[in-house]
Amino acid sequence: MEKLFIFDTTLRDGEQVPGCQLNTVEKIQVAKALEQLGVDVIEAGFPVSSPGDFNSVVEISKAVTWPTICALTRGVQKDIEVAAEALQYAKKKRIHTGIGTSEYHIKYKFNSTQEEILERAVAAVKHAKKYVEDVEFYCEDAGRTDNVYLAKVVEAVIKAGATVVNIPDTTGYCLPWVYGEKIKFLMENVSNVHKAILSTHCHNDLGMATANTISGVLNGARQVEVTINGIGERAGNTSLEEIAMILKCHKDLNIETNINTQRIYSTSRLVSNLMNMPVQPNKAVVGRNAFAHSSGIHQDGVLKNRESYEIMDPTDVGIDKNAIILTARSGRAALKHRLSVLGVEVDGDKLDIIYQEFLLLADKKKDINDDDVLLLAGKERASKERIKIDYLQVTSGVGIKPVASIGVMIAGEKFEAAATGNGPVDAAINALRKIINREMNLQEFTIQSINKGSNDVGKVHMQVEHAGVIYYGFGANTDIVTASVEAYVNAINQFVK
Ligand code: KIV
Ligand code: ZN
Repeated sequence: MEKLFIFDTTLRDGEQVPGCQLNTVEKIQVAKALEQLGVDVIEAGFPVSSPGDFNSVVEISKAVTWPTICALTRGVQKDIEVAAEALQYAKKKRIHTGIGTSEYHIKYKFNSTQEEILERAVAAVKHAKKYVEDVEFYCEDAGRTDNVYLAKVVEAVIKAGATVVNIPDTTGYCLPWVYGEKIKFLMENVSNVHKAILSTHCHNDLGMATANTISGVLNGARQVEVTINGIGERAGNTSLEEIAMILKCHKDLNIETNINTQRIYSTSRLVSNLMNMPVQPNKAVVGRNAFAHSSGIHQDGVLKNRESYEIMDPTDVGIDKNAIILTARSGRAALKHRLSVLGVEVDGDKLDIIYQEFLLLADKKKDINDDDVLLLAGKERASKERIKIDYLQVTSGVGIKPVASIGVMIAGEKFEAAATGNGPVDAAINALRKIINREMNLQEFTIQSINKGSNDVGKVHMQVEHAGVIYYGFGANTDIVTASVEAYVNAINQFVK
């Protein structure tokens, strides 16, 4: 079996998605879950882009033990120096530097020439080598870069000391066999290619990221850049769980990873919940319906022999159908244990806050499942927000005009208002607007129930525009009107500081 290195960029390319931003504590939580999952490299951020990103790379470097911590830079000296400083505590560190190599980038982005870009590429690698041994170089938009020129760049950066060369299909344009041929061309035409590892980095704009990645691997790439749930710029990146399970299901490919696949599901839920980014129900491997058989013929087949219709065992990805369901009689220890299995470590006051919320939910809903437990962890974060809902009362129904009254605490002071609306959510939001008198527009509003049943928790995602900026809010509650107001308040809390 040949080893394939897994480079996870959930905390960099994934976190670039509008509305998915995490704070440092949350990023550490994800980094630790990635470590337990068995990824080889964690791309922890782009340190020069903001003090928050810099700090996250520092803290993740301290918190994580065995994966390599990688920091992204442009092929610019200052970026490289800042990245080196951010990585100072990492036990194993890598600088990921690079530049655009396609005609589009060279001509329009840099107003430059192929020769000059080649020189800048070599200079960037040499500069990074002054600070770290492990330097990865990306040829941005390699997917649309001429193969002969690409080979020249790859050869030059390896000669300059690059240990890994990343061949991104930045725009998600390549067809699988074209991307595979690109890697093959490099393997055959770069004289020093054996001194470095070629890496795939495929975007999913045309839904081909996973196919392109596998095609790259079959042609010689030995590192793949992936994200949990395939999150990332635009249509996202290649998803880690798909690559890990393809290689597990197709042992004949003779390629293995270090991924502990039984941690896939919990890591997926953790990332989805922290980033407020729902996983589409039919998402391969981790979607709610990925193992749900609804047609009678399929159900009959699976009952007779699981393998008739299932190519993966749900337990292989960590879906434990027999997992203990928590109820109102479960204690703190059981809740703490379940959270820990899902990658969330809490103690002391934090556990107390989550436990109180747990008891409130358990009163309304008989069985508390993993999604509920992760949502409760989110309530602990909401408890620190400046604006909090104190009470909400809504009257609506047939033949009456919906009316809502609301009380909110702002920095410890109580404010109250009432309003009508064309529905219960509209009335509640109108009342809230009377208290928070800022210009804001609700742009997007989605409601999703977690499982099934009228007593279930509803999740609400909202986008609220204020002063030309979009803020993302999230709420979850068995009362859908309350969940909607929670989501609105969550968004407001991001601009009313
Ligand atoms: O898609 C891309 O080209 C990237 C690079 C910065 C690696 O994310
Ligand atoms: Zn990318």
